[in-house]
Amino acid sequence: MANIVVVGAQWGDEAKGKMVDYLSRRAGMVVRYGGGNNAGHTVVVDGETYKFHLVPCGILYPEVVCVIADGVVIDPAVLIAEIEKLTARGHSVSHLKVSQNAHLIMPYHRLMDQLEERRRGTGALGTTGRGIGPAYADKATRNGIRMHELMDRARFEERLREQIAEKNLLFTRIYESEPLDGKAVLEEYLEYAEKLRPFVCDTVSLIGEAIRRDVGVVFEGAQGTLLDLDLGTYPYVTSSHPIAGGACLGTGIGPTAIDAVVGVAKSYTTRVGAGVFPTELTDDIGDYIRERGHEYGTTTGRPRRCGWLDSVVLRYAAQVNGMSCLSLGLLDVLTGLDTVKICVGYQVDGAFTQEMPCDLPYRTDLQAVYETLPGWSEDISGARCLDDLPETCRLYIRRVEELAGVPIATLSVGPGRDQTIILPTAHALLEN
Ligand code: IMP
Repeated sequence: MANIVVVGAQWGDEAKGKMVDYLSRRAGMVVRYGGGNNAGHTVVVDGETYKFHLVPCGILYPEVVCVIADGVVIDPAVLIAEIEKLTARGHSVSHLKVSQNAHLIMPYHRLMDQLEERRRGTGALGTTGRGIGPAYADKATRNGIRMHELMDRARFEERLREQIAEKNLLFTRIYESEPLDGKAVLEEYLEYAEKLRPFVCDTVSLIGEAIRRDVGVVFEGAQGTLLDLDLGTYPYVTSSHPIAGGACLGTGIGPTAIDAVVGVAKSYTTRVGAGVFPTELTDDIGDYIRERGHEYGTTTGRPRRCGWLDSVVLRYAAQVNGMSCLSLGLLDVLTGLDTVKICVGYQVDGAFTQEMPCDLPYRTDLQAVYETLPGWSEDISGARCLDDLPETCRLYIRRVEELAGVPIATLSVGPGRDQTIILPTAHALLEN
């Protein structure tokens, strides 16, 4: 099987988990390459719902090696809870591997995240509050603590002492908050160390070997293209690289190891947290989409902002990810609307453009320009091939494909494994 990167083509929450689960059935390895427990991937198997924050979705296939790679920031308590939950539900986790080079999320990261958001006041980014930004900031400033250091008690004690001393100065002098108790953090983390030890290894070598042996590796992206630190709607972004290039940075593979990039998009758009959203619907249709699509955060439970599909975003995502194909999901959510709209471009400074403006986050004057198509009222959740879909729905899909400029490989009409329509592009690109 090909080595495939699965990326979010919008602002995250595109139901990438379902696509990763679909590809995992033939893969030898699934690798999560970035982000942390700000992500929430949901997979429904035989009516049972699984929610993952750190563990790759492939874990449900016992023969698939699942890797949490270098680029992920790991909150050990969350990872251990996820492992224990899976075990309690009868799933083996012996095929889970955790990178020795992954950075740890520490209690001071979570605290800094929350204090920083409070300090920003009305300008808050709407982070998940999980300590993601501060953990990546510490990595960039060479202050981070990595998994292999947690495995070495003396080293960890030393690194923690130094970091707690520095962070407590920040807490007490800048944020006027309480200092952290370093001893309590040490004890807590030493317990985590023992629970995680069996999983920690050199994942760069492991992934390299899997690529050499051609087992088929799926790289599981978290968040979405427009949340990318460099290529997203900065500063309303996350602190990692969700784009396909992030799969190289976060795992230790080179770009030539990637055979295909699947962009996952919803049939509409959602966003959580603050920041520009040109096609946002603040009316009844937005509420209709939110309720039908259960658009509430897997991680924080926050209601997601909902809007029409934005083809400018999709084309941009196709470009910056080098997308081979698109996986279009949650089509069933749009059922029941008289008409459906697609944003085909923006009106900016009196001119029409189909390009992503580089200053999009600051463009409060930007207007989305729409094309209106007829809707469909038939229940499509039982559709298993293109011909099962109403003509108006097929028209919508064709138009999305034209506007995005990449072929659609799969369609999803519900959360279940069987509620996926596989198109010829999938066979050609993903199944070989
Ligand atoms: P952080 O990643 O917690 O720092 O949050 C930064 C921004 O990214 C906020 O707007 C979050 O709502 C958003 N974000 C982070 N992770 C996800 C995700 O998995 N899905 C959707 N939005 C996310």
